[in-house]
Amino acid sequence: MSDKLQFQDRLLSLGLGRVSEAAALASARLIGRGDEKAADQAAVNAMRDQLNLLDIKGVVVIGEGERDEAPMLYIGEEVGTGNGPEVDIALDPLEGTTLTAKDMPNALTVIAMAPRGSMLHAPDVYMEKLAIGPGYKPGTVTLAMSPSERVSALAAAKGCSTEDITVCVLDRPRHADMIAEIRSTGAAIRLITDGDVAGVMHCAEPDITDIDMYMGSGGAPEGVLAAAALKCMGGQFYGKLLFRNDDERARARKAGITNFDRVYTRDDLVRADVIFSATGVTSGSLLAGIKREPGWVTLETLLMRSKTGSVRRMTYKTPVK
Ligand code: FBP
Repeated sequence: MSDKLQFQDRLLSLGLGRVSEAAALASARLIGRGDEKAADQAAVNAMRDQLNLLDIKGVVVIGEGERDEAPMLYIGEEVGTGNGPEVDIALDPLEGTTLTAKDMPNALTVIAMAPRGSMLHAPDVYMEKLAIGPGYKPGTVTLAMSPSERVSALAAAKGCSTEDITVCVLDRPRHADMIAEIRSTGAAIRLITDGDVAGVMHCAEPDITDIDMYMGSGGAPEGVLAAAALKCMGGQFYGKLLFRNDDERARARKAGITNFDRVYTRDDLVRADVIFSATGVTSGSLLAGIKREPGWVTLETLLMRSKTGSVRRMTYKTPVK
């Protein structure tokens, strides 16, 4: 038998919940204060401190950036006490720094953990993303389809008109043609200004969010986090790395990527059982935001395990000075 410690996802998940909670708590006083950097730094510091209390031999594979760009939670940083299973960590201490600074919906703190070697080391480049919720046959929509073909295919699978489909898209000039094409089908578009991890997660709970599909380009690291979330919640995810120049290709090579045209499925991005925790910072359709009352702060956390498909919603109320 191997002397390597097993990935005890059941026990570790509660600890992971505390990690995303700590990051959110630290950013609470910076919501709506117009300072993205300060909010992000507070979340990073708190996430790192809490993560280092966990009995894991962790390595950050999706983090704040390359070592020379990010002093904390950089890619390759070893985290945890060192006494425990070898795990990969994907994190975004504040997904939606601008949303936080402007007090706009759906800013989250996010972290996922899986056995060592099971998550794609996604370089900091863009990724073309496509996601739908659970209950559809694999390949119901694909990246090879045009945006309007995806809407039609999803409407046919759902047994509804294209006008009953809502697609979530990041509001960016680069998406103008895609937005026009989706609208030509009669489908609705929920435009978001930031935060595509939450955007993708919205597809998994269409009854609550009214979102059927997510599409468009955003950060590749966020793509891995979104895939981890959907692996727990159910749903399909497809991602393809996008390169704008040789520097970005070099980043990918450094991360061990050789096939630049590959379409990654959800389970290619996260190849083993994963645990995922997200805590709401600003209020959104999936999670309540941080609530501050005199002397108290209340947070909501979504804690999930892909092995069992369990989804735990935890409310944490704590006194503050
Ligand atoms: P930050 O939290 O780092 O501000 O990123 C937010 C985000 O909106 C991501 O959710 C998304 O993947 C990415 O930025 C999109 O990048 P861009 O703003 O360059 O379109």
